[in-house]
Amino acid sequence: MKIGLIVFSQTGHTMSVVDKLKDRLMGAGHQVQIDPIAIQGDAAPGKFELTHQPETDPYDGIVFASPVQAFSLNPVMKHYLEGLSSLKGKSVAFLVTKQLSSHWTGGNRAVSMMKTACLAKEADILGSGIVVWKETKRAVTEEEALNHLAQLSPGN
Ligand SMILES: Cc1cc2nc3c(=O)[nH]c(=O)nc-3n(C[C@H](O)[C@H](O)[C@H](O)COP(=O)(O)O)c2cc1C
Repeated sequence: MKIGLIVFSQTGHTMSVVDKLKDRLMGAGHQVQIDPIAIQGDAAPGKFELTHQPETDPYDGIVFASPVQAFSLNPVMKHYLEGLSSLKGKSVAFLVTKQLSSHWTGGNRAVSMMKTACLAKEADILGSGIVVWKETKRAVTEEEALNHLAQLSPGN
């Protein structure tokens, strides 16, 4: 499969997981491209412009990757997803990174917002992974997310 890893990362955490996901997917025989969303301004609602909006057309499968922000999806990824045209026929999955380990601190909500945005564009949703950046949780949650995302396929 041709897989696009479309990522927004402010401080590099999400990008570092995406780099590892790229290696895993390439090891499984996929063609993989990382394409970061770029902005001008601050990553706060209404305070930025998208200066690079990755294309989705080249890919059969896409992983959208973003940090959690303010118990929610980062506003840059939200804005980008809402501006996409149809994702019909695309298999998509989600990766989020977050600092706090409790369940109510935004990870599930961020994934759910990505899912809602992509369903509205008629994507086929395959799955998601959440990486908790807190030192004591990072290695385990990263491994779980990478394992899960790397084995997803449209047939599963
Ligand atoms: C403004 C701001 C708000 C944040 N809000 C949350 C939050 O609500 N819950 C959480 O778990 N982490 C929160 N974080 C932590 C980030 O989600 C976490 O550090 C993430 O891994 C950053 O990813 P990045 O380095 O790819 O930008 C917040 C970080 C920032 C800068």
